[in-house]
Amino acid sequence: MSSNLSRKSSSDTLLPVEGGPSSLRSVEVWGLAIRLFHLLLILAIIGMWYTAEVGAGLDFPMVWHARLGYCVIGLVVFRVIWGLVGTGNARFSRFLASPRTTWRYAGDFLAGRAPRHAGHNPLGGWMTLAMLLVLAIQGSSGLFLTDDLLFEGPLHDRVSASVAEGLAWVHHTNITLLWGLIALHLMAIVWHGLRGEWLIWAMVHGRKHFRRNQSVAGENAPAPPSRPRKWLALGLAIGIAIVVIWQGAQLP
Ligand code: HEM
Ligand code: HEM
Repeated sequence: MSSNLSRKSSSDTLLPVEGGPSSLRSVEVWGLAIRLFHLLLILAIIGMWYTAEVGAGLDFPMVWHARLGYCVIGLVVFRVIWGLVGTGNARFSRFLASPRTTWRYAGDFLAGRAPRHAGHNPLGGWMTLAMLLVLAIQGSSGLFLTDDLLFEGPLHDRVSASVAEGLAWVHHTNITLLWGLIALHLMAIVWHGLRGEWLIWAMVHGRKHFRRNQSVAGENAPAPPSRPRKWLALGLAIGIAIVVIWQGAQLP
């Protein structure tokens, strides 16, 4: 791993790193909250797919699909709050770039000369927001659905039959968008990997490695918040997410 890192690093992917691995510095880019969020999201989405497509029906009661759906909604709620009041690279303000910057980055990315970023690059930032939005639409439309067998979403009775049908269409169509975004997400990660930037490990252990003298976009973060403020924000985000998931556990 370290030999890889010492040979390849960024826009200058093919340049050797002078001085070998000792000239690398390690920077924390993703905190535990984001890493856990990402891991739980992957597990929940696999569960959603399984309960809806493979094990649906009497083998796997729809209520399990709904419960997992509440977990996804809870995770999205957590991520949105953490994006607003959280720390470091998790904040939306750190990674939602202007259209002009994003456009320029896209050109550099395709030309293979994009700079490395500590957190999300501009395309990754907008992709993150797009995935959260599509997940929110998927989760909230599910609340109004019925499988016409044994399961009714908790809000199904609150709307007319035609509105419920419309939302069922949204649920069935939006999922294709979600699969598409996930495929794009994985392709982007493979593309970065082929250019020598192994983003996956940073999502596992939280750190990226850069050359000592290398300038990294987005690295000069504002001072981190005080500890009490950080814990308060984390408590708030987790608390609200748990309330949402708890509602799911109350399902009949
Ligand atoms: C169900 C499938 C997946 C979904 C819905 C998903 C969703 C996301 C989201 C929302 C983010 C933004 C993280 C944040 O800022 O909160 C993200 C980032 C990331 N994901 Fe995934 N992900 C999925 C699968 C994977 C897999 C299988 C891998 C590994 C091969 C992966 C690797 C990454 C990496 C490396 C990042 C950080 C990208 C960067 O540095 O900008 N993801 N993912
Ligand atoms: C983000 C989370 C969710 C994902 C990824 C998801 C995914 C899916 C998928 C892939 C299907 C099958 C669609 C098809 O065959 O075209 C489905 C159907 C369904 N989902 Fe979800 N879902 C989510 C949230 C929810 C929630 C929260 C509920 C209810 C509380 C729910 C209730 C249902 C029902 C009742 C069906 C069956 C509809 C039918 O038989 O026509 N889903 N979902």
